[in-house]
Amino acid sequence: MLTRFFTVLYLALAFRLLPGGLAAKKDTKIGDRTIERAVQLRTHSIFPPYIDQDLQNRWWDFGGDAYINTNKHIRLTRPKSSQMGWLWSRLPLTSTNYVVEIEFKVSGESTHLFGDGLAVWLTTSRAEPGPVFGSIDKFEGLGIFLDTYANGRHPYGFPRIVGMLGNGSAAYDHDHDGEANSIGGCSANFRRTNVITKLKLTYVKDSYLDVKVHYRAWDDWSDCFRVEGISLPEAPYLGISALTGEVHDAHDVISVTSWSAVLSPTSQPRDKLSNGSIFSRNRGTEKSSGSWLGFFFKTFLFAGVCFGAFQGYKMYVVRNRRGGFGSNGFGGLGELGDRLGYNSGKRF
Ligand SMILES: *[C@@H]1O[C@H](CO)[C@@H](O)[C@H](O)[C@H]1NC(C)=O
Ligand SMILES: *[C@@H]1O[C@H](CO)[C@@H](O)[C@H](O)[C@H]1NC(C)=O
Repeated sequence: MLTRFFTVLYLALAFRLLPGGLAAKKDTKIGDRTIERAVQLRTHSIFPPYIDQDLQNRWWDFGGDAYINTNKHIRLTRPKSSQMGWLWSRLPLTSTNYVVEIEFKVSGESTHLFGDGLAVWLTTSRAEPGPVFGSIDKFEGLGIFLDTYANGRHPYGFPRIVGMLGNGSAAYDHDHDGEANSIGGCSANFRRTNVITKLKLTYVKDSYLDVKVHYRAWDDWSDCFRVEGISLPEAPYLGISALTGEVHDAHDVISVTSWSAVLSPTSQPRDKLSNGSIFSRNRGTEKSSGSWLGFFFKTFLFAGVCFGAFQGYKMYVVRNRRGGFGSNGFGGLGELGDRLGYNSGKRF
């Protein structure tokens, strides 16, 4: 039963990614070239239940105050003072071009005093705790700060998302919330929303970095910032860290999904396929309606799988409540689950 539940869950997650992948394809263009294909990277993705049978994750490390609730989230900080937690990929991200989408949640009781926020990293070093949203200063690579607490006065509102490209010796401008070395930013009220909050970054080597944020309505991605001609370090580690000081919030990571992006070849850009010839124009139309059909098919499939997963989950919960594991010969596993708190969260 447990195995079946997780199989269904994995399937559901696998299908859930499809629309995201399509969206990533749709809105990314590099001159004549487009992102033609996106291949999901298992090494840089993480979903519930986050850990395997050995209570580890093969591809990710957790640390500091971070703990896992296998049903819900990786909580980097609790809504308490002086907390610090992190989640880092074990392997560097070796793709030339990539898309990373992070679903996160920032919540807390207070409506006027809260902070400090979290950071998404693509840097040459990993898992070193420090003062910049829970990670080291003078980092080399990209930091994107999801900052909920303003240290300085600004003409723009908070929460704010700010990007910085560190060269290994430049310090984060803490007193002005990263303004001195900001490469781009936007204000976005991603705290305590009713909508799922996600950050998506797309990087095409030496061409551009694009950051979008999802927080206003379902499937409504807002442009945050875009930097042309940017070069990130090769093979950076992917990390997320969070920090609370005197003020606090719960900072959670729900999931991370990464894709390696394959560009269309320069010699035959897609957009120029239909060059006045009826034949090629028809082919173009056919192609696009085909992909729309495919999209709807996948959406339907996804809805079906979701329903299945939900039913499976319901059965799982009911059995679990009745002590179903024992009666099904899963006694050991049931006990293990209880002891490690599949429902209450496991501390690392
Ligand atoms: C790093 O950036 C800082 C600030 O822009 C600059 O002063 C410093 O010279 C740079 N260091 C290197 C090694 O490029
Ligand atoms: C498209 O048409 C123009 C002139 O109509 C021609 O010069 C060009 O070579 C054509 N491109 C392709 C890819 O067929």
